Amino acid sequence: MLRPLLGLTVALLMAFSGGPAQAGDPVAGRAKSQMCAVCHGPLGLSTAPDAPHLAGQPALYLTAQLQAYRSGVRKHEVMAVIARMLSDDDISHLAAWYASLRIEVQSPP
Ligand code: HEC
Repeated sequence: MLRPLLGLTVALLMAFSGGPAQAGDPVAGRAKSQMCAVCHGPLGLSTAPDAPHLAGQPALYLTAQLQAYRSGVRKHEVMAVIARMLSDDDISHLAAWYASLRIEVQSPP
């Protein structure tokens, strides 16, 4: 009696929370990222000295940061304005795009 109820509750919770992190579309993210490129670079290697690199960051992390700027939990004047223009879909697409970029690091010679 309890088991089916439990299953239903979990299913409902997942439906309302958007389920397991929705996979974004990197192609849509790339198109949207044009507005980010002036500071974060066309391939997520930042050109502005105060902007962090985004290439290769985990989608989970990028999504969380963009949501935090949008809600005001993470404070930054510029990123707050930008994040407020993004929908949930925009955020997951952008996160998928930057996460899909492959980076390589080298230790100094
Ligand atoms: C005018 C310059 C500018 C533009 C345009 C811009 N950003 Fe940023 N972004 C910044 C700066 C500066 C920071 C560092 C903010 C801080 O200190 O919290 C930042 C931080 C971030 C972070 C946090 C990275 C981390 O390592 O924690 C993410 C994610 C991000 N930006 C995504 C975007 C996306 C996606 C766009 C386009 C929709 C965008 N930004 C457009 C300047 C910019």
